[in-house]
Amino acid sequence: MDKLLIVGGHPLHGEIRISGSKNAALPILASTLLTETPMLIKNVPHLRDITTMVGLLGRMGVEVTVDDKLNVLVDTRTINSYSAPYDLVKTMRASVLVLGPLLTRFGQAEVSLPGGCAIGSRPVNLHIQGLRQMGADISVENGYIRARAERLQGTTLYLDLVTVTGTENLLMAAVLAEGATIIENAAKEPEVTDLAKCLSSMGAKIQGAGTDTIEIQGVERLLGAEYEVLPDRIEAGTYLVAAAMTGGYIKLKSADPHSLDAVLAKLREAGAHINTGDNWIELDMRGRSLRAVDIHTSPYPAFPTDMQAQFCALNAVAEGISTVTETVFENRFMHVQELHRLGANIRLEGNTAICTGVKQLYGAPVMATDLRASASLVLAALVAKGETLVDRIYHLDRGYECMEEKLTQLGGEVRRIP
Ligand code: UD1
Repeated sequence: MDKLLIVGGHPLHGEIRISGSKNAALPILASTLLTETPMLIKNVPHLRDITTMVGLLGRMGVEVTVDDKLNVLVDTRTINSYSAPYDLVKTMRASVLVLGPLLTRFGQAEVSLPGGCAIGSRPVNLHIQGLRQMGADISVENGYIRARAERLQGTTLYLDLVTVTGTENLLMAAVLAEGATIIENAAKEPEVTDLAKCLSSMGAKIQGAGTDTIEIQGVERLLGAEYEVLPDRIEAGTYLVAAAMTGGYIKLKSADPHSLDAVLAKLREAGAHINTGDNWIELDMRGRSLRAVDIHTSPYPAFPTDMQAQFCALNAVAEGISTVTETVFENRFMHVQELHRLGANIRLEGNTAICTGVKQLYGAPVMATDLRASASLVLAALVAKGETLVDRIYHLDRGYECMEEKLTQLGGEVRRIP
């Protein structure tokens, strides 16, 4: 199992390109199941989760070709199975995103029920409930969601809580349903909007994506299109925190500043000087001192839960006492115990981490537990004195493209040890 060896203490300095968004690319790849004409998807990041989704489509008999520029060409004409088996779903919960498209286009789907995961129980009851309201016959047995439908019927769906992949699954189901579907209390995340844009480019009729009410007028069929995935806001946010923590300077190319409003506001509050343009972000922390900031996670446009762990690392070495409150997932503080091993002073009280900044962290062996928790350990290691060995970095490979290359390019001392 690969590990990362990081020698801390080098301020990051330089320019990198942000990759395509993992969480937008996954539903967009699933959306290719909605059409029988080939789709070309550009700016797909080279990540383990993407390989899993491509593998899942391949298992169904779909033809997927990836070129050296990471453009993905998908042709579903050869599909011969409508199933997402346990061995793939257990490695990536987002596999459940094929449920809506398969059911609405082929009238059947069998998708393994995702289990709990390191950050919480994460049920998919709202995905199932919404599809049932659209007329699907769904049973959950032997660990599988088995769904059947003639043609799904448009209706008004009110989501009890904001769910990102739930909104995406129902949106994809609704585009080929009969009549109009309204999704109330929909997720407003930029990845949902990007999926809606992709679907519109295929001929879907969608209004209100990016607001909490999405209206979809079902159509008979969609056509293949060419679509470029938006940049990854969480990857961008992670590198900005890295530059802030190390007292460095960074310029991110191909980054979308608007999708990061809440994160940029917190980085400014922490003392960073930030400039933005249409598709770039620049952060300068040289000669400035890092102040601790209070964080409260919530669905978009509020502060993202996927940046919570990284700000715990920032607060661990910032001046002052801060609170980090997690409201989206019930168990998303696995990184705190590992940050302790580097010398952080963080106390957990329910869903709040109380961080007291320390002057110096010290390198130690640590273990990654989930994707964003792993990122926080890498950030802490970049400022820790001495060597940190981060174990189980397959979690990082799920969501950060070429992380060690990008950090090395910025002057970090990071090496992958096989
Ligand atoms: C997506 C993101 C993930 C991010 C999360 C929240 C992808 C592939 N993943 O995950 O990176 O951390 O949004 O921004 O896009 N819930 C239910 N019932 C449901 C669905 C969700 O109770 O049917 C709960 C979950 O347990 C959680 C909350 O709703 O507490 C939000 O989860 P959700 O938005 O669905 O997260 P994901 O879509 O799985």
